[in-house]
Amino acid sequence: METQVETLRAEALGEIGAVADRQALEAARVRFLGKSGAITSLSEGMRHVAKEDRPRLGKILNDLRQAVTSALEEREIRLLEEADAASVVALDLTLPGTFPAAGSLHPLTQLLDRAVRCFRRMGFAIADGPDIETEWHCFDALNTPPDHPARNEQDTFYLPDGRLLRSHTSTVQIRVMENCPPPVRIIAPGAAYRRDEVDATHLAQFTQMEGLYVAPGVSLADLKGTLEFFFRELFGPETETQFRPHFFPFTEPSYEIDIHAEALGGQWMELAGCGMVDPAVLEAICSKRGDRLYDPESVSGFAFGFGLDRLAMNLARIPDIRMLVENDLRFLKQF
Ligand code: DAH
Repeated sequence: METQVETLRAEALGEIGAVADRQALEAARVRFLGKSGAITSLSEGMRHVAKEDRPRLGKILNDLRQAVTSALEEREIRLLEEADAASVVALDLTLPGTFPAAGSLHPLTQLLDRAVRCFRRMGFAIADGPDIETEWHCFDALNTPPDHPARNEQDTFYLPDGRLLRSHTSTVQIRVMENCPPPVRIIAPGAAYRRDEVDATHLAQFTQMEGLYVAPGVSLADLKGTLEFFFRELFGPETETQFRPHFFPFTEPSYEIDIHAEALGGQWMELAGCGMVDPAVLEAICSKRGDRLYDPESVSGFAFGFGLDRLAMNLARIPDIRMLVENDLRFLKQF
């Protein structure tokens, strides 16, 4: 029996070492360890062995079974490794990969994000209103008389039902005060529409940012401090601002703000309108709300508004406003 075991061991290990694939390996396993396999039938022969020889022969058989089992396992691992290696043999792992093209934010969006971040730090919330507006929200409530040129059909897009495309984002001031009690401190970025001839500096749709702060005791000093801080944050600490008296129907007094900053090309640029909310606007809100929460005797406020397109153009040295809306990748990829 011992010689039989030795022959079988040599045979099994030889055969297992030589199999070329996992199918052949499985066949070898069945041939030696299967139910009617060679090692199994040898074990059955133990019944005829003399009692005193059984422990010794049993151990020899056990060793054989173990040796064959681990040979099978090792061979299987080898075969897997060989298959793995074969599957990458034709690959050049040093070749550069293909990267998905990463997009970037539109220059206008980048400026808007920066502006919003700055105002949020000062406690301004973001407010929104519809692009299609009533004449009341766009003009009447903002103290703009019926004969004001901005209300002309040549300047504003009217819908057949008498509503209009808002010609400025100042409408959101009215929307906010109608719906929220004071104090309110909001910015409202969004689209505005005017019947302008489209050229290098004009589009029929452009982007504005409105601001409004109404509370007891808000003063012109708050307005100046807020906007000067904002423009210095945006364009650098050397930025100079100038508040030039102006007229807007909805503020009194009113100013235009001129800015001088290297980032904007180092020249004075008229940039924003602003002022203290006109008491007539607050009275219009009181009438609409049917309460006196916005009584101009108890609250005051400042408002401001500016266009973002021209700012973005100056910051990024963009020569033609139409480039902002043409979606030409050669243009957009530069940002
Ligand atoms: N709505 C004005 C415009 O479109 C800009 C403006 C000026 C907004 C003064 C304001 C303001 O809130 O106080 O030209």
